[in-house]
Formats: sequence, C-alpha cells, structure tokens
Amino acid sequence: MPVITNIDDLKRLYQRRVPRMFYDYAESGSWTEQTFRENTSDFEDIRLRQRVAVDMTGRSTATQMVGQDVAMPVALAPVGLTGMQCADGEIKAARAAEAFGVPFTLSTMSINSIEEVAEATSAPFWFQLYTMKDQDYLSRLIERARAANCSALVITLDLQILGQRHRDLKNGLSAPPKLTIPTMMNLATKWRWGIGMLGAKRRDFGNIVGHVQGVSDPSSLMAWTGEQFDPSLDWDKIAKLKEQWGGKVILKGILDADDARMALKVGADAIVVSNHGGRQLDGALSSIRALPAILDAVGDKVEVHLDSGIRSGQDVLKAVAMGAKGTYIGRAFTYGLGAMGQAGVTRALEVIHKELDVSMALCGRRRVDELDRDILLVPEDFEGRWQ
Ligand SMILES: Cc1cc2nc3c(=O)[nH]c(=O)nc-3n(C[C@H](O)[C@H](O)[C@H](O)COP(=O)(O)O)c2cc1C
Repeated sequence: MPVITNIDDLKRLYQRRVPRMFYDYAESGSWTEQTFRENTSDFEDIRLRQRVAVDMTGRSTATQMVGQDVAMPVALAPVGLTGMQCADGEIKAARAAEAFGVPFTLSTMSINSIEEVAEATSAPFWFQLYTMKDQDYLSRLIERARAANCSALVITLDLQILGQRHRDLKNGLSAPPKLTIPTMMNLATKWRWGIGMLGAKRRDFGNIVGHVQGVSDPSSLMAWTGEQFDPSLDWDKIAKLKEQWGGKVILKGILDADDARMALKVGADAIVVSNHGGRQLDGALSSIRALPAILDAVGDKVEVHLDSGIRSGQDVLKAVAMGAKGTYIGRAFTYGLGAMGQAGVTRALEVIHKELDVSMALCGRRRVDELDRDILLVPEDFEGRWQ
C-alpha cells in the first residue's frame, strides 16, 4: 500500500492506473490552459498569518452548506464520466462522501444513473443539471432527481456550449472508449482498470442513454453537448427551473458580480464561483481572484461557494477565510478515485481535512465560523486592476 500524504501522490498513482484518454480528460483545461493553471497558482499567491499561544483544544471543521450539516466546508463537485475513471465511480465516490459527511454532487453526464447512486447510498446527494433542448427529457430528469430524494439541484450555467480541450479531440474521447489501435495499446497497460470495468454496472451515460433521442454518437460527450444542450438558457429559464424543482437551488459557474446579482434576483440558495476548473472560457479569471468582487456584491445576501483549483486543505482555508461558505473539489477527488477507488476518494478527503484542521490551528482558529480575512495575507493587487 503506497503512503499517500498529499493530493499529488494520488495524482501520480491515478496517472499510472487510468487510461490516458480519461486522465487527459480530467487533467486538461481549455485552449492555452491559462485559467486552468492560474486556478491553482493564484491560491499560492495568498499567504497565511501564523498566530501562537491560542488554545487549540476542541477544534472542529464542521459547518453547514445550504443548511445541511457537513464535516468540513467541502463538497464533491459534479464530474462527468466519473464512472470511466474507475468502475462504478459515481457510486464509489458517493459512498466515500456519505461516510465522510460531505455532500456528493452527481453530474448529468455521469455513468452511473441517478437511480443507481440512490440505491447504493442512504444520504441524499445533490444533482447537477445541464439544461437540454428536449423539454420533456429535462422535466423527466428533474422528476427523477426528486424521486431519488436529491436534496439540492445544482444548475450549471457556464456550459451551454463546450469549451475546447485539445487532448479530448486528439484522443477521440468517448464512453466507453472506442477501440482504436493507440487506445488498445494504452488499455493493455491498464489491466487493473480493465478488470474493474468488466464488472461495472454500466459503461455509458446512465442518465441519458435510453432516455433521450436524436444524438448521432451516444458514446461521445462532444456529440451530446453539441446536439442536446440548450444554448438558449437565460435567467427566465433558470427562474422557471427553480420553480419547477421547488427545493434548494445552487447556481454554478458564476464569475462576475453582475451575474451574481442576477442569481440573487432569481432566488438562488447558493452560488458557486467557478470557471468549471478552467475547462470553459480560457482567459477568464481564476475563481479565487474573482471571489472578492462577488462577495462584495452579494456576499451578505446569498451563500457563496467556490470551486476551481482546490488541491489542499490550505486552499479550502483560504477560500473560506476570504468569505466563501463552502468549496468543491473536482480533480482532487477524481485523482483519488482513479488511483484507489472508493478508498482513494476517502484518502483525498482525509488529506484535505487534515491540512485544513492543522492550518486552522496554526492560524489560531478553532472553528470554521472563526475563519476570516484576518488570517490571510493577500497581495495588494491580488484582484488585479482590469479595464
Ligand atoms: C473531468 C471533469 C469533468 C467535469 N464534469 C462536469 C459536469 O459534468 N458538470 C459540471 O457542472 N461540472 C463539471 N466539471 C467541473 C467541476 O464540477 C468543477 O467545477 C471543477 O472540477 C472544479 O475545479 P477543480 O477540478 O480544479 O477542483 C468537471 C470537471 C472535471 C475536471
């Protein structure tokens, strides 16, 4: 058993064990990958203020996200094709999240279906919705999430059309993978992954295959998004979806203060400051840099969450101390899943939890509600001066 002490350890193991097509799918950003890179490097620009001689006993990382108790302010982000990183990946990740006491968000583009995840877990999970042109299908999808007792609907707003990741095109990304010669040569070196996949409940898009028609290639993410996703999504439609759902709604993919105000207007329960992990608009600001302006605009009126770039408990600490009420991890848990299945997701959560707890203590804070800007050293021009 390898000794895993940080998220990078899981990433290395993940790269060894998972077919290149799916590693590249996760470990890419769009176009030049500037936003993808800055999501992590901008966290490094913020330093922490060490405090001493503060009683550190009785610490807790527990808090709430959209009124739900969480063991730490971290949820698993919706990650499409999770079940291609590891057999039954969504089920394994959801189980790890449940055992740890953090929310799991199931992507519309998951491999395991809503029903399969619901059957394999007992805690309610969150469902992430991509809006499709087919209104009947969309209504049925919302009904399926309701029937599965999902406790929040996460509507993703930053992917009406798909950003381009060069490697997905070059690799011919599909689920299941098409057996070209380069793919077969690569798969031959990933026997652990292959054996797992032979026993998987499912190897296609569980929420859509068989539920929607009119897609030229059912195994291709690019074909689904190009042909089915609704490019006409606007705030009126979002307000209607909220009404239709009737429960907690989290709007994901906000990077601009004006959009945050619109999200507030339609009555979001929370917003996620996110650039989709640098996978959509290359050249957009990193989430952590965009956060302060959004907090200034709406932070006292709506719960503000953040994702994109979180690779450690210190990143969580920085986002929360800046003012976010919660964070999400996408790649960090995906590395764990590809490396070691459910145990790897648990390990990713343990690593992040420990880093958060120890860093809080060394900053002289015992509880999440005590985290504030006072423990951060933020460069004066961190938000940047943009015209
Ligand atoms: C491989 C991969 C697939 C993703 N699929 C989805 C998805 O289906 N729906 C969605 O809303 N976001 C999706 N995202 C974005 C994540 O929810 C999240 O915003 C992002 O991963 C956060 O950045 P991080 O990976 O640096 O933590 C995906 C991200 C990755 C890495």
